[in-house]
Amino acid sequence: MQIFIDTAEISLLKELHETGLVDGVTTNPSLIAKSGRNFLEAIKEIAELIPGPISAEVAATDAPTMIKEGEKLSAIASNVVVKLPLTFEGLKACAHFASQGIMTNVTLCFSVTQALLAAKAGATYVSPFVGRLDDMGFNGMELIEEIRAVYDTYGYETEILAASIRSDAHVKAAALAGADCATIPPAVFKTLVKHPLTDKGLEQFVSDWKGTGQSIL
Ligand code: E4P
Repeated sequence: MQIFIDTAEISLLKELHETGLVDGVTTNPSLIAKSGRNFLEAIKEIAELIPGPISAEVAATDAPTMIKEGEKLSAIASNVVVKLPLTFEGLKACAHFASQGIMTNVTLCFSVTQALLAAKAGATYVSPFVGRLDDMGFNGMELIEEIRAVYDTYGYETEILAASIRSDAHVKAAALAGADCATIPPAVFKTLVKHPLTDKGLEQFVSDWKGTGQSIL
């Protein structure tokens, strides 16, 4: 499963990129607002830092303007993915970009039928929002499983990008459900490597090794 980071904070991306484990980045208008950065400059900087797909979301809600905005975003760098909302207007823009070979991420997906439409519109990625469904008392991860089943049945190549991830458990469940990618907030990414038995075991190994008085180098 590919790991994307869900942030527009360059300093965090630099830090996490050093792990060699970051495959891409997703942003949205709320994350850009939180960063306080100029949108176009931030996307350029992120796209230069991380070689994988970088999602940049349009602001318009009508297809013709989404197309103009998406063309501008896509021209920033070859790894920019145009992020579009899951509306009929967004899907029209998605089909346009698919015909031009421009990558798209259809976002704000909350149902299987929406995901089916995104695939039919030729989306490169569809982003089902797991955490926001959980917040409403639904099982967000079931949506990932169902989209996986539908896409596999019909051979759709749209990649399932599990979004609105809130925990280590969400990442595990997304992987088990067959999501192609998960976009993970930096704080959650940092928890993925942690396990108390790893810390305890390492502490013991370090201490026992010291006791031998040896050195490998
Ligand atoms: C995905 O593309 C979105 O940016 C993000 O995952 C939304 O997460 P949230 O529900 O925590 O805002």
